[in-house]
Formats: sequence, C-alpha cells, structure tokens
Amino acid sequence: MMIEFYEKTKEFHIHNDWISYIIQVFENGHLGNLYFGKKIKRNRDFSHLLQTGERAMAIYPKEQEYDISFQHTKMEYPVYGTGDFRFPALEIEQENGSRITDFRYESHKIYTGKTPLKDLPSLYVEKEEEAETLEINLWDEVCQARLTLSYTIYQDAPVICRNARVKYFGDRSIKIQKIFSTSLDLPDSNYEMIQLSGAWARERYPKTRKLQQGIQGFGSTCGCSSAEHNPFLILKRPYTTEDQGEAFGFSLIYSGNHMEQVEVNTHDITRVLQGIQPETFCWPLHNEEEFQSPEALIVYADHGLNQMSQVLHRLYQRRLVRGTWREKERPILINNWEATEMNFTEEKILQIAKKAKDLGVELFVLDDGWFGNRENDTCGLGDWYVTNFQKLPNGVKGLAEKIVKLGMGFGIWIEPEMVNKDSELYRKHPEWLLQTPNRTLSPGRNQYVLDFTNPDVVEYIYGMIKKILQSAPISYVKWDMNRYITECYSLTQSPETQGTVFHKYILAVYRFYERLIQEFPQILFESCASGGARFDAGMLYYAPQAWTSDDTDAIERLKIQYGTSYAYPISSMGAHVSAVPNQQVGRTTSLSTRGNVAMFGAYGYELDLNWLSLQEQEGVKQQILFMKKYRRLLQYGTFYRIHNPFTEQKAAWIMVSEDKSRAMLGYYRILGAPNQGWDRVYVKGLDEDKLYRVNDDDNQVYYGSELMYAGFMLEYTGERGSNRDFTSELYYFEAIENEEV
Ligand code: DGJ
Repeated sequence: MMIEFYEKTKEFHIHNDWISYIIQVFENGHLGNLYFGKKIKRNRDFSHLLQTGERAMAIYPKEQEYDISFQHTKMEYPVYGTGDFRFPALEIEQENGSRITDFRYESHKIYTGKTPLKDLPSLYVEKEEEAETLEINLWDEVCQARLTLSYTIYQDAPVICRNARVKYFGDRSIKIQKIFSTSLDLPDSNYEMIQLSGAWARERYPKTRKLQQGIQGFGSTCGCSSAEHNPFLILKRPYTTEDQGEAFGFSLIYSGNHMEQVEVNTHDITRVLQGIQPETFCWPLHNEEEFQSPEALIVYADHGLNQMSQVLHRLYQRRLVRGTWREKERPILINNWEATEMNFTEEKILQIAKKAKDLGVELFVLDDGWFGNRENDTCGLGDWYVTNFQKLPNGVKGLAEKIVKLGMGFGIWIEPEMVNKDSELYRKHPEWLLQTPNRTLSPGRNQYVLDFTNPDVVEYIYGMIKKILQSAPISYVKWDMNRYITECYSLTQSPETQGTVFHKYILAVYRFYERLIQEFPQILFESCASGGARFDAGMLYYAPQAWTSDDTDAIERLKIQYGTSYAYPISSMGAHVSAVPNQQVGRTTSLSTRGNVAMFGAYGYELDLNWLSLQEQEGVKQQILFMKKYRRLLQYGTFYRIHNPFTEQKAAWIMVSEDKSRAMLGYYRILGAPNQGWDRVYVKGLDEDKLYRVNDDDNQVYYGSELMYAGFMLEYTGERGSNRDFTSELYYFEAIENEEV
C-alpha cells in the first residue's frame, strides 16, 4: 500500500521507500499540506505538522475559531479571495462576476495504476502494480463545480505526478482563469531556485538565485515552451551540490504557455506553482463540461542534483517515451542543413549521402527546402509536396529510394504549423492563419502560424504530410516550429472562447502527432523549434528526441547539453558534429572535440563530409565505429555531471552502465592556460570494489574507490594537456576480474 487514508485524523499519506506526501482534510473540508519530502514513518497523527494559531491581523474562515488561517498555513490547492492572500492555484469567474470559490472535501478514491490524461501527454504504467493513484474530489456548492486533485506515486521512483480537473454542473457557465497543475507549500524558504533559461542558440542555461520574500518566477507566453524559459524548476538547499543534499525538481509535461512561480510569504512559507500560463488562458465551462490540467511531476532527491536528474531521465526514458523508439539506440544521422541550407539538388544530396554512407552513417535527413517553391525563407511553407523538379527531379520518393538503396535510412523535415504568404495554401486560405481582426499580423522569419484550432486546417495539413510519408520510404521526421505565436485569435472561435486558443492549439499539435505515430509507428520523430525552443517533457511523449539547439559549436554545446541534462535524458538530445569555423560563433575546434561532445546525445553530422581531408574522413569513420560500439552506454547509462562549464574552464561528465561494469567519461577543456597545476577528475557513479581498466590499457587498472576518492589523473602536456584550448578526451572504464591485476 503506497497510499493510505487515516480515517481518524483525516490524513492521506502517499509514500514509497523514498518519499512521503501528507495531506490533511481540515474540519471544514479544506485541504492542507502537512509534509512533502524524505520518507517519514507513519505516526498516529501528523496534524502537528501544520503550524496554526492566532495571529494579529489574520483572517479566519469562521467566527470565534482562530485556529487555522489560510494566510499562515500550508494549503494543498489554494484559491483566491477567502483569506489566503498569496497567489492561488485556482481561480474561477462565475456568472455574477465573483471569483470566490470554496471547494470542500467530498470524497476520494485510491486505486492501483494510473489513468492516462485525456488528450494530454503523461507518464504511463506498464503494469498496474507499478503505481497507485489518489483522487480527491472537492465540491463548491455555490459554483456548482467539482475539483478533482490527482496524485500518483510509483513504486520505484521518488516522484509524485499531479494534475487537477474541474467539472461544472450548473446550468449557466463559469470561466477558469487559472488552474495550476502543481501547488506545493513548503514550511520554510531556505532554498535556492534554479531555472533553465536562455534564448535561441543558448538554450537552458541554469540560473540560480536565493529565494526571497515575495514572488519570483518565469514562464512563457510564446505559444510554446520557449527557448527563454523551460517548464522546469529546481528548489535546492543552499548546501546541496550535485552529489549531496536535498532538491525538488518540478517538471511540467506540457509544450504550450506555462508559468513557474515561487512565492515566499512573510512567515517564510514557500509556495511553488507550476502549470498553464494564466496570462494567456481563460476556459469557459458549461453544464457537464470538464477541464483537465496538464500533468506535473515533483521529484524529491536527498542525494543532490545528479540524483534528481537521474530520476527524471529514467522516468522519461521508460515511462514517457513510447513506441518502437523507446530505449532504442538512435541512428547515427547526417543532416544537410548546415551544408546546403535550402540550396541543394538531388545530385548534391546524393554526394553528401554517399560519402556519409562510406564513413558509416546510418540515416540521411533532408532538411528544409524540399517542398513547394521553397527557395528561401519567404516562401513555400504550407505546400507539403514537391513542385521544384529542378531540385528533386524524382521527387522525395526518387531521392528516398536512392538513399535507401545506398543502405541508409531516409528522414525528412517538416514544419506543419506554419505558412508563408507566398504559398498556394495562403493564396487559397488566408483565413487559416491565427490573426486578430483589424490588427496587423506580426511576421517572424517571414512566416505565420496556422490556426490549428480549426479542424479544417489540421485535416488539410495532415492529408499532405500523410501523403508524403506514405509516398516514400521515410523512417525519420524532424518536426520544426520556427516562430512564436502573436496576435493569437482564431476566426473560428467565438468571442467567449478566444482565451482557449493557445491551449487548444497545443492540444491540436498533440493530436496531430498522435495520429502520425499511430499511423507511422516505425518513424522516429525529432521535435525542433528553431533549435531547442520546444524541448520539453510534453514533446518527448510523441517525439523521443529533440534538436537541442541551433548552436552546434562544441564549446557552446557543452553548456547547452550540461544545462539540458538537469531535466532531460541524454538520449533525447539531438547533437551533431558540424563544420568549422562554426556557423554560429565562428570558433574552430578539433573534429575530435566536436565528436566527443556530440557523442553524449542522439549523434549525427551536419556538414558535407566531402569537405573534409582524407585524414579527417578517417577520423569520422573512427568516431562512428566508436559511437556504434558504445552507443547503448552513451545513450542509456546513468548520467553524472562532474565539472560545470558555466563556472570552470572545463567540463566533465560520465555515463555509467546500470550494473556499473562500464562507464564513459567525457573531459573537456575550455580555455587552456600555460603551466597549470596537475589535473585529476574525481570520477562518479562507479562501484568502489570493482577493478576498472581504462581505455583497454592493461597498464591503467584502478579500483572504483581509487578513481572516485583519490581521483583519475590526467596527462599534463600536448594535445591531452591542460594548456590547449578546446581539447577533450573520452575515457572508457571497464570492470575486469580482480585476478587480472
Ligand atoms: C531551424 C532548425 O533548428 C534547423 O536545424 C533547421 O531545420 C532550420 N530550422 C530549417 O529551416
């Protein structure tokens, strides 16, 4: 039993071997949060964990009862306007204009398993026994609405999965103005908050700040999760490091506008809210209609940030990603974007593909530029068929067949949500754009966003995409999204439902993806939004990997991949070796360093390999052989961050196999400096008692304990020395029998 209800004390205790989450039903039917954190033993009563008592100026729910003031206590799912002056988790506007709600406990249900969320991505179970779920129903008599709070706990992970839904039973209507997926009140504020923020080409940089009284937070109003702020947040103790101390990880399984907020009140109670961005949301409900929030996860770790990330990585790889590509090694691909952009011919593509095949690449991806009159980024989007037979004389089919005949898989780029004004689609259907009447429509990359809340639009686009996927042997699709949403308004929605458009839009994207993966289950999908602007857990449910960033410089990627790893698994990060000087920053790094960074990811190349010298081509061949040999370990091992490229002139990380018998250490020097001290890496994650051989060299044999506590000594001079910029090494550790020493 992982979820218990103590009838006498009216407490729910959700627990497994790692965590306890305790909720109390107050006498008046409101819910308070008693505890969330490391597992605590069952006591006959936990109510003392709720700090209560009379305070000057406080507002109380009842006359003469100065016990619980909503203002000073930890609420489970707070509402607006009745004495809790903090930001609420739920706000409902009723027909008379009131926003006061009063949801009280009505019933609950505890069951084995986990129910998938309707139309939304969520973690799943394979066997019912893996998880238990608690659903608490609360009722507001005046509002005539039921609020259901759902909590799932897995047997083998320190995680709580949460969501909320509201169903209306009245005969008028209500409007949901805010509905967060997670609301968590913690009893003190001695935390640092880490967010993953950035911009195009420098996505997901970790930013840390100490919590202060008042509100601190971030979010997105761009129509997607965004490059600016990822839907992910960490609260950690000031003393927490990568390897020790407490941390909470909050992750929203959602790809639309989101909000993450931490509020500390005057008594140092911390409230975390995570969910749909209220600024761009308003959802009306009529009789018997229901609104379902996205799912949010809260991970608790008491062994530092590495542990927190590892829990998320495993859950995402095993219980979020689905289908053929779940836990499968990802093909080594070559993508033509940085080599040709839109300026290619079939001949040119085949030249790139042939060379790639010779060197061992497994899949060719034809990027932007194959459809309609797509000569540059002002035209063609929306016409998902070949019209330019000078570029592709035999269409996609002809090219795909030739590439498959070479012995490679074939993949294709699409951007189904977008349209250029210079396209057949726009000429026929200018009304299919998201657009506000009588307002200028702001362009972005010369393109506009299609109104995916209109089923006619979706059907039309789906039809074209389906046709192209059916027409050729396509085993991979890169789905891009290259602009944010502005002037968000749908000509097919009523004035009353304009506040639903952003959310309906992303639901339609999810439905589109779902249809595609059901219809083409063998295809590997990669999500992309000008690089990593929609790199979120919602997308991973449909596309098991994402293009991490348009910045392919190895040194920039150290930071981007390091930051991304706080929330997302290595197997989900598309990472390619590109040409030098690098297109985004002009930096020149060695082929070896470019490979050594990208190998911790879904590996590929993004250049014309014919440009390389014969020696470099041989280097590529060796990289590919190496990647094929160690791919499972590199993509599905347990990942530990060791040296932080944001704070040091170096980076290091390691992937360790589940049984700890194999590990790959990546060590990267950023700027070298002369006459440095000796360098050593304190390796992580190994078995103390196992004996490891390094790089198959019998002269380098060390116990795990030595490697972790005394350190692994690095060589000092030459290409491997600490005095060279942008150098790197990979070290492979393999456990050997003790007798072999
Ligand atoms: C943005 C992507 O991130 C790139 O990789 C490339 O696909 C371009 N779009 C194509 O327009």
